[in-house]
Amino acid sequence: MVKLKLTRPDDWHLHLRQGSLMSSVVEMTARQMGRAVVMPNLSPPIRTVGESLKYRSEIIASLPKQSSFNPLMTLYLTDQTTKQDIIDASQNEHVYAVKLYPAGATTNSDDGVTALSSLYSTIEQMQKEEMPLLIHGEVTHAEVDVFDREKVFIETILDPLLKRFPELKVVLEHITTKEAVDFVTDASQDIAATITAHHLLANRNHMFLGGIKPHYYCLPVLKRRAPHQESLIKAATSGNPRFFLGTDSAPHDRLHKESACGCAGVFSAHAAIELYAEAFDKANKIERLEGFASHYGADFYGLDRNKDTIMLEKKSWQVPDIFEFSGAEVVPFFSGEDLSWRLVS
Ligand code: DOR
Ligand code: ZN
Repeated sequence: MVKLKLTRPDDWHLHLRQGSLMSSVVEMTARQMGRAVVMPNLSPPIRTVGESLKYRSEIIASLPKQSSFNPLMTLYLTDQTTKQDIIDASQNEHVYAVKLYPAGATTNSDDGVTALSSLYSTIEQMQKEEMPLLIHGEVTHAEVDVFDREKVFIETILDPLLKRFPELKVVLEHITTKEAVDFVTDASQDIAATITAHHLLANRNHMFLGGIKPHYYCLPVLKRRAPHQESLIKAATSGNPRFFLGTDSAPHDRLHKESACGCAGVFSAHAAIELYAEAFDKANKIERLEGFASHYGADFYGLDRNKDTIMLEKKSWQVPDIFEFSGAEVVPFFSGEDLSWRLVS
């Protein structure tokens, strides 16, 4: 049996939600990951250190007893976020970053930013405190084609922002395009990107093959195989430490996805590391998985790498069709399909 031992990975972009759904999904991540950067797009969003600590204690309370999983908290940037909010965040040991959602870009983003220019003093404080800005990089103007929203964001928002704040630490989250890969690769400043397993393993054809497939719908939306998916695979498996693991696993009730106005999000926490192993193995680069999954994110955030390890074995298994959580049915990524690597428990 082929086995692969890895430093325990971390998930640098995760949605845990709240209440009973959170209690159901958090254990799946905690089984695999040492830490996860927890997204603040709850309803209402997590805007202050106080709200963030309360949310963190709810997460900790729903973990299995012996778990040493560490949720790394983030604040949701709004038009009202102040310099003082950033100072408070940087003085707190549990808050690691601030998340920028352009208003209307995705799930629970109504309280997101409408004009970055009104937040310059807040962002300046982030630059000073070396507090990373995590970015959902899409413009929201109705006239911009949905498939071009990341590219246009990079050209019209991100590039000018980095010119104004050349020392701002930035993670461009869940990148989906060749333009994003090239931008991060060529950037001179402290900018990195997370890449999801679903953007490595699927492209926009999967969303339409044989009919519309709502469980492949996420934001930023899946792009073409060539050049976009191929660029992501190349970047993730390149050994470039500016690209690292962030699942963007986002559980939604099946009824909200299989609907006339289906919501965006792919749930991948049930098999996160196995899905990435599948993608790296397909690219004949399984030896590069450990850097991407377990080293580069911690290095970027200035944290120690995890000390313990996990073991994967190459043994085919079938992903469940559906998870029946209390109060929600969630269809996972790779539902009913085979994966070739499995975490040895
Ligand atoms: O597909 C997505 N789902 N993209 C996001 O940016 C948010 C996420 C969610 O919270 O459901
Ligand atoms: Zn997300």
